[in-house]
Amino acid sequence: MKGLVVAANRLPVELSADGRLNPSPGGLASALSSVTAAGTQWVGWAGPEAARPKPFDHGDLRLHPVFLSPDEVDRYYRGFSNAVLWPLFHGRLRRVELNRAWWNSYRVVNRRFASAVAQIAPLGGTVWVHDYHLLLAPAMIREKRPDLRIGLFLHIPFPNAQLFAMLPWRREVIKGMLGADVVGFQVPDDVTNFLAAAKRLVDPRMVGRTLFDGSHSVDVDAFPISVDFTHWDELGEGAASAALANRQELAVESVLLGIDRLDYTKGISQRLRAFGELLDQGLLDTEQCAFVQVAVPSRSDVAAYEDERDEVEQLVDRINVKHRRRNGSVPVRYIDYSLDEVQMAAWFRAADALVVTSLADGMNLVAKEFVAARGDLDGALILSEFAGAAQDLDGALIVNPYDIEDIKQAVLQAIQMPVAERAARLRTMRAAVQHNDVHRWARTFLTRLQSSASTRTDDLVLRPGGGDLATRRDLANRRGLDPKLVETIPS
Ligand code: F6P
Repeated sequence: MKGLVVAANRLPVELSADGRLNPSPGGLASALSSVTAAGTQWVGWAGPEAARPKPFDHGDLRLHPVFLSPDEVDRYYRGFSNAVLWPLFHGRLRRVELNRAWWNSYRVVNRRFASAVAQIAPLGGTVWVHDYHLLLAPAMIREKRPDLRIGLFLHIPFPNAQLFAMLPWRREVIKGMLGADVVGFQVPDDVTNFLAAAKRLVDPRMVGRTLFDGSHSVDVDAFPISVDFTHWDELGEGAASAALANRQELAVESVLLGIDRLDYTKGISQRLRAFGELLDQGLLDTEQCAFVQVAVPSRSDVAAYEDERDEVEQLVDRINVKHRRRNGSVPVRYIDYSLDEVQMAAWFRAADALVVTSLADGMNLVAKEFVAARGDLDGALILSEFAGAAQDLDGALIVNPYDIEDIKQAVLQAIQMPVAERAARLRTMRAAVQHNDVHRWARTFLTRLQSSASTRTDDLVLRPGGGDLATRRDLANRRGLDPKLVETIPS
């Protein structure tokens, strides 16, 4: 889309201390980078090492760095975004860390992002705001630039209304989000949760999934994100010999794989515990199987992440000490650094099964990358029912990650699965990912944004003979009339 402005916490690249540019961590940056067209402007943070860099071009994109002081990185990013919203939205708030200084900083930084967008967006242009770091920005942008069409997409789950209502600033957050014309979520449950929270906390007028807030309507829907299928398919094809080398190095019959950011929502301990118990019980043979766990360090100065790292590393040690092989090698290969896409594809192709046991997860793009990279049709996917991807990937072995026995059964089933069944399941999953790839996701969202931004409150009408509300367009469509002929009620 021409003239699009993207606003996300991170730019697609991070500036290192010596001035080099590295790809930003996380699925959001890579998913978006593969769909942004030439001329797109992107407003975001250039990482902790960036001073106050000026706007610069990166490939076809124009990047506008937003400066964050060390204090803001602490309060807005580590504090409010990653120690309040992240755990709350994933249903894992351990301590109630509802720090008011963090909230104030979150507001200040959201306003800074909104001002940056307002300054650069072309007249009548389109803005796409991403994720939980910027939930206040849509309303702030609208206040400054009512001419813009504003979309918001949340990459993580939205919690149920009861949980969300714990947040002292819950109304401000909902109102911030309602500044958008379209609010997108990963799965229908998130939509239901958001609508319930909006009803309970700000009670806007609602027609189905369209809310009317002040001067504009807000279209709320699920838009499940995906991956660049062709890209991962090609990476998989190109990785055949590196995959073989990985297998030869491990020298076992069965290889299980996990690739995650080291995050307490990913259920890494749960899957390792399941693997350890299978070894303890002799249901897996330490001489003949390996678990490769890639745990990419993430948000390591947030306390809960340090605890998670300690727990995972202790588990790995315990399993490896107890089940050391006769030749001195160990069954869990723990990789605690980030891999590039080529290396990831080589592990995807080397594995008999990818194990995804998230306790809560907006989508989990790794699961879809694995499916796209397995053009050889020879791998199984074990997938948590609490990952958004479970709703798109018929063919995965779905598990409840809180139930260790369930994970163990799935691991055994995956390892023993006949070749024909693996292929059939992968075929189904690959067709789904190929059809709904990241390009379709972006197109669907932006097309909806183009059409729904034209619904304004003065389009609201009463259904004849009844008191409930409908949009003029909706009513006209049903009766085959010109929308202009349907009477408008003054709001
Ligand atoms: O949606 C999950 C997310 O927060 C994304 O914004 C990002 O891609 C990823 O996790 C990485 O997190 P961070 O930006 O905190 O390193």
